[in-house]
Order: sequence, then C-alpha cells, then structure tokens
Amino acid sequence: MNPSSNITWHRSDVDQQARQLLNGHKSPVLWFTGLSGSGKSTIASTLEKALYARGIRTFILDGDNVRHGLNRNLGFLPADRKENIRRIAEASKLMAQAGIVTICATISPYREDRNMVKEILQQEGCYEIFIQCSLEECERRDPKGMYKKARAGEIRHFTGIDAPYEAPLGPDLIVCTEDQEIAGSVQEILDFLDREQLLV
Ligand code: ADX
Repeated sequence: MNPSSNITWHRSDVDQQARQLLNGHKSPVLWFTGLSGSGKSTIASTLEKALYARGIRTFILDGDNVRHGLNRNLGFLPADRKENIRRIAEASKLMAQAGIVTICATISPYREDRNMVKEILQQEGCYEIFIQCSLEECERRDPKGMYKKARAGEIRHFTGIDAPYEAPLGPDLIVCTEDQEIAGSVQEILDFLDREQLLV
C-alpha cells in the first residue's frame, strides 16, 4: 500500500498568485545543471545578490548545502541522486508557491531526473539553465580538490570521471563559463529573465 494514502489536500486562500502580488514579482524556479566546478554555486550567489538589489526575494537550494541536512542520508549512486533531485524539486515547488524565486544549483547529471523536475514544477514554471564548461577546464579549476581525489580513486562515482554527465539537449539557456568571468554569466541570466519577462 502507498504509505501516503488517505490524505486530503488542504487549499490555502493565500495562494501563489496572492503571494506574488504581495512581493511584486513572479516566482520561477531557475534550475542550474552542470559539472562540479562549472560555476553553478558561484553564479547562483552572485545572481542572488543582483536580484536582491532589485528587491526580488530569492533562495538558493545548493546540492552541497542541501546534502548537509534534508538530503544527508543520500549518496551519489543513481538512485540516491534521483532522490536528491526529487527532494530539491519538491522543496523548490514549496518555495515557488511561497512566492520566492528559487535558484537550484545541483549537478543533476541525468536527463531522466531533470525531466522529472520539469514534471514536478510544471505549474510553477521551471527554467533549465545549463552552466556549460568542459571537463578539462573544471578539472583545471578543481576548487574543492575533488577531481584530484577522484582521479586518485579516493572518491568513487564522481561525475565526469567514473559517473556520467548527460548534457541538456534543449535547455532554456546555456551559459558558457569556459572563458567568461562570473559577472558576464550573471548578466546573461539577468538578460534572459528580462527578455522572457519571468519576474514581472
Ligand atoms: S547531484 O548529482 O546529486 O545533483 P549535487 O549537486 O547534489 O549532485 O552534489 C554535488 C557535490 O557533491 C559536488 O559539488 C561535490 O562537492 C560533492 N561530491 C561528493 N562526491 C561526489 C560524487 N561522487 N560526484 C559528484 N559530486 C560529488
């Protein structure tokens, strides 16, 4: 039996639309995907500062951070990554319903899992942003020394080394960080948000 049967949805009169009206902006989910070291977390926090300056309420769900709490019982095998992504998508759904622009920064390496994200967030609106950078450059940056450890066999199932990364086929935006400063990448996302009128 499904453990979640015999439950009833309780509707709130203060809904997503009411909260967005109060905040003065919409609340899309911006889903960053890309290799470790591609710049997801750095771009997310710089983007958040720019949006904060514009009076926009945001929150970042960063894979590394969420794995310290909500997802601390999950590892890096495919089934655990799927559950990691599912929980982050569900958490961002709550954020979106609360009227907050949510920036998710996770490797989310599997297409199937990212498709699941789009399904979960169908009503709230989720935009896939591919933070693109070659494995060679990510490995050269190696900000946390993870690639070195993975090459040495000290970390198993590391994305790009002995676990796959499936690049998005039709992302909403591609931001190439290979030889671009953070500010340029953030500006591309701000331009995208304005062009597509995702916040107003
Ligand atoms: S995801 O694949 O499930 O989306 P997530 O973004 O939450 O991954 O976490 C990735 C972070 O966990 C990396 O930035 C890195 O610091 C750390 N990490 C530890 N082990 C691994 C691994 N085997 N593969 C990828 N990242 C790992």
